[in-house]
Amino acid sequence: MTILVVGGSGFLGTEVVRQSLAAGYQVAATYLTRPTDIAGTAWHAMDIRDRQQVADLVTAIKPDMVINAAFQKADWASSADGAAHVAIASVDARLVHVSSDAVFSGTAIRYDEMSVPDPTTPYGAAKAAAETAIKAISPTAVIARTSLIIGDGGSRHERRVHALATGRITGVLSTDDVRCPVHVADLTAALLELASSDHAGIHHIAGTDAVSRHELGTLIARRDGLDTAALPAGQRADSNLPGPVDVRLDCTMTQKRLRTKLRGARQFLNGHTISTIE
Ligand SMILES: NC(=O)c1ccc[n+]([C@@H]2O[C@H](COP(=O)([O-])OP(=O)(O)OC[C@H]3O[C@@H](n4cnc5c(N)ncnc54)[C@H](OP(=O)(O)O)[C@@H]3O)[C@@H](O)[C@H]2O)c1
Repeated sequence: MTILVVGGSGFLGTEVVRQSLAAGYQVAATYLTRPTDIAGTAWHAMDIRDRQQVADLVTAIKPDMVINAAFQKADWASSADGAAHVAIASVDARLVHVSSDAVFSGTAIRYDEMSVPDPTTPYGAAKAAAETAIKAISPTAVIARTSLIIGDGGSRHERRVHALATGRITGVLSTDDVRCPVHVADLTAALLELASSDHAGIHHIAGTDAVSRHELGTLIARRDGLDTAALPAGQRADSNLPGPVDVRLDCTMTQKRLRTKLRGARQFLNGHTISTIE
């Protein structure tokens, strides 16, 4: 079984590569700017904005499965056009595309897999456009929306908490900005499980706990032995930041289909041993 991890050099992509190797797959993975050296993986430079490059690579590798974890938040061509290029090139493979809770405005707060996107930011709009393109090109593909992705120290969210707690940067963690963070190991296990299934369409893969950015920061700081009192709190509603404030992915339908247990942040940041399968 050959799997191609598009965006394998990213935070999520790296974990997908690791778990795919552990599952015994032949693993090919792509990077744009950060060549990576995980042994046992065939690494390829690829820019998903280039339709021909994507087609040529997929034709050369002939993967059974493709996981697309590539994106650039501020670049429509990578997040939307690039996702369509991957879907077109992967019509003969099992495609799992990673999307985001940013496709929602937060007006309804709680969103299940049937909810219709109503993005309010360019990033959210690009992710929603990608979803529409993929559904049209490849109705059997899985589109997996997720929320803040947390690891064991390596995510951008954890790095920001460390920088705030140690005074290396200024800023606040909002007490009213709520998401359902997921552990990268749980998310990856769920993506690979869906890749091996015959499920299609929209799936929600997020944690079971809705927590504010400030509570998330406090959980991370406590786990990592940092001074939780040093974390500055604020109100997102008082800022001029665009985008949704409170978005909670309801994963009930998706969780019923999975053996992988999607833990909440209060559990996976509480010193519990990582265990993705119940
Ligand atoms: N992180 C979160 O909290 C979060 C929340 C919700 C949804 N998501 C979704 O989860 C997925 C993965 O996120 P992540 O945090 O793992 O991202 P990341 O660490 O920023 O990695 C992004 C990956 O995309 C690659 N890439 C960027 N532009 C590309 C292009 N034009 N062509 C080819 N590859 C390109 C990067 O390559 P190089 O690094 O080699 O340049 C990297 O491998 C994305 O779909 C994102 O929308 C993430």
